[in-house]
Amino acid sequence: MKATAMFVLSALLPFAGCARDTEAGTTQQENPSMHRTQKPLVVYYSRTGENYAVGDIAEGNTAIVAKMIAQKTGADLFEIRTVKEYAADYTECTEEAKRELRDDARPEIAGDVADFAQYGTVYVGYPIWWGVPPMGVFTFIEKHDWAGKTVRPFCTHEGSGLGGSVRALRKALPGATVEDGLAIQGHVAQDDRPAAETAVERWLGK
Ligand SMILES: Cc1cc2nc3c(=O)[nH]c(=O)nc-3n(C[C@H](O)[C@H](O)[C@H](O)COP(=O)(O)O)c2cc1C
Repeated sequence: MKATAMFVLSALLPFAGCARDTEAGTTQQENPSMHRTQKPLVVYYSRTGENYAVGDIAEGNTAIVAKMIAQKTGADLFEIRTVKEYAADYTECTEEAKRELRDDARPEIAGDVADFAQYGTVYVGYPIWWGVPPMGVFTFIEKHDWAGKTVRPFCTHEGSGLGGSVRALRKALPGATVEDGLAIQGHVAQDDRPAAETAVERWLGK
């Protein structure tokens, strides 16, 4: 195994016990989105600062993928921002996130999507934090009525893939059809955009 691969695996060992989905199966439900605008929505959470495998970044990995999806689908774009800022230091941030996950916290978020009801398809993007989306994503989810919507999840990660995130979303969104997700490694989104773009296009074409 290459030294870099060993480093990635060993550095992510703290996350090794995180939940993991099989990602199998899509719940089929009647979808009234045809009565709504054809325009989809991309909502995402993404963090800047120091992160694993990419150093100190000015644009989050998930933000890069979210913008690609919005550009390719013509979707509106909304960034989920927590009122509280997480530590810029990577290790400190992992500790904060661990505490929030343990407490099943709902950190307050700033702003909201205008007229959420108009969208039939919502792309929901997030980094994997301890195997699942950051808790602020659930704060956003719980503010809205998702009945009849189609949700297409996407994430960036550094080894866990989608982890348990799609299962967590299906649990949080019982009225929506949550499709299988897209997982892109954060450093690929950050440093190899053509590769990330190819993965996005393949997934969008499914
Ligand atoms: C708090 C925290 C927890 C993380 N947990 C995991 C994890 O469980 N599995 C994993 O593969 N990567 C994990 N990572 C790495 C991020 O998922 C990865 O760097 C992602 O691309 C960050 O996206 P962003 O720049 O959009 O925030 C974690 C990173 C942070 C900051």
